[in-house]
Amino acid sequence: MRIVVIGGTGHVGTYLVPRLVLDGHEVISVSRSRRLPYQSDETWKSVRKVIIDRDAAEKDGSFGKQILVLRPDIVIDMICFTLDSAMALIEELSGQVKQYLFCGTIWVHGHSLSVPTEETQPRAPIGEYGINKAAIESYLLSYSKKSGFPATILHPGHIVGPGWAPVNPAGNFNPDAFRKLADGVELLLPNFGMETLHHVHADDVAQSFQCAINNFDNAVGESFHIVSPQAITLRGYAEAIASWYGKTAELRFAPWDEWSKTVNMEDANATWDHISHSPNCSIDKAKKRLNYSPGYSSLDAVTESLAWLKKHN
Ligand SMILES: NC(=O)c1ccc[n+]([C@@H]2O[C@H](COP(=O)([O-])OP(=O)(O)OC[C@H]3O[C@@H](n4cnc5c(N)ncnc54)[C@H](OP(=O)(O)O)[C@@H]3O)[C@@H](O)[C@H]2O)c1
Repeated sequence: MRIVVIGGTGHVGTYLVPRLVLDGHEVISVSRSRRLPYQSDETWKSVRKVIIDRDAAEKDGSFGKQILVLRPDIVIDMICFTLDSAMALIEELSGQVKQYLFCGTIWVHGHSLSVPTEETQPRAPIGEYGINKAAIESYLLSYSKKSGFPATILHPGHIVGPGWAPVNPAGNFNPDAFRKLADGVELLLPNFGMETLHHVHADDVAQSFQCAINNFDNAVGESFHIVSPQAITLRGYAEAIASWYGKTAELRFAPWDEWSKTVNMEDANATWDHISHSPNCSIDKAKKRLNYSPGYSSLDAVTESLAWLKKHN
């Protein structure tokens, strides 16, 4: 099939596009062409690259038409963040494509309540990003039910891979936390270190899109969590990473108000965002219905990324 991947050169596209090519699809990657995939791969030679700036094209109302002109059988939308943006595209694609796959986020759930969180649990997102993604999910599911529009929604956790810094055991992106664990020096964690993170390797997210195409009947009109087999507590994460570096974690804990004063505002905000969600999502549905079979535990994914960071200083 001819598959258009909107935002095909990012974390997920780096793995997804080669997987689709190897499956025998004709792949078109749409982006502004400002960046290359995180890893080069021979398969990219057979990929048509189309340059469109979605923001600019949405402003003049041409985005959907520019996608449709590519005559896709399937559209994979990696970079849709508002309901207006989704509705404008779906209006053009309706009745014209065999499948539309939307990249959501586990943030649609807001704070974790009963865990592992299942897809059937009511949505209660708590920030603009999650609220917008939940609104798009709700629209796609109801539109799909009403009109038969073939939408599938995949909700990744914290995406990890070689080439960028993973969410660390303090719940933010500052590589200092890893450095402290590697050096065996004290790392201060918020609260009891019992809040959770739920990572997923970018290649497993890519696999899930492939699975959703290959299991169309089970995928259409549905949403799925796409994460590693188990979430991890901040404390468990810190201990495992220290051990990977051959050290024992030297951990100290402080209540949020005290802890947040020890880091800069950017790190504090990122940690707050992660620990207030404390995601822990079930992948049972994706395993049963899509044959999703993650190749990486959270720690395997993170340590691969850390090895890359070390190699590239
Ligand atoms: N990162 C996470 O941990 C995480 C977690 C859960 C869900 N998600 C979801 O994952 C999706 C993002 O996937 P990703 O992380 O693979 O993407 P990414 O690494 O952010 O890459 C974005 C891709 O879109 C292109 N792009 C960006 N702005 C564009 C524009 N205005 N017009 C056209 N192309 C544009 C980029 O290439 P150019 O810059 O060259 O245009 C690139 O190909 C989002 O839907 C996000 O909500 C991410």
